[in-house]
Amino acid sequence: MKVAIMGAMVEEIEPLLEFFGTYETTELAGNKYYTTEYKGLELVIAYSKIGKVFASLTASTMIQHFGAEKLLFSGVAGAINPQLQIGDLIAATALCQHDLDITAFGHPYGFVPEGSVFIDSDKSLLAIAKEVAGEMDKSLLEGVIATGDQFVADEARKDWIGETFKADALEMEGASVAVVCDALDVPFFILRAISDSADMDAGFSFEEFLQSSAKESAAFVTKMLDRLA
Ligand code: ADE
Repeated sequence: MKVAIMGAMVEEIEPLLEFFGTYETTELAGNKYYTTEYKGLELVIAYSKIGKVFASLTASTMIQHFGAEKLLFSGVAGAINPQLQIGDLIAATALCQHDLDITAFGHPYGFVPEGSVFIDSDKSLLAIAKEVAGEMDKSLLEGVIATGDQFVADEARKDWIGETFKADALEMEGASVAVVCDALDVPFFILRAISDSADMDAGFSFEEFLQSSAKESAAFVTKMLDRLA
């Protein structure tokens, strides 16, 4: 089986590349894709660059060019749910785009005709994640992740996203990956470790905890591969 593992920033996939050790590099469409084998799984690993457009391009390339049959995303997020502390893990049950707005035409936030506000994650990958959390004795919150092309460092904006979408965390790629995977019928799983609280200190917190939280997320994803193998 071919599995894609994707991040948005180099820091999010570096721990994975270190873990797998050797891989081949393919340059395509302005990006680098790393391929390797792990316990009989064929892996394609890449970071997209930040934001929904680059993330869509990378997810689509991993599926349509490299033939990925499942996609796991590993990275960091800002917490909305106050239960979430730095380094805590959240797995998306559903994702939405908080910056998608054609409310002028009477549609709800996050909706475009022929789309849907929320895209659900694959249930069997979520079940595997629960088993892995148990095995690692890690707490894993399951909840809604809201995505937008904004680094949120503002309490009011964070609260609005939390209230409008009942979201637990926010980031800048997950929902676009979900749209691509849903359209191409590829099961996906979006995991994030908290790097900040999307408040006025978010920028500092993000810089301080990006690497350590990205490592937490990557370590969890590698354990999921053991179950997929
Ligand atoms: N990813 C991690 N923290 C974030 C934030 N505060 N806003 C958007 N994306 C993030």
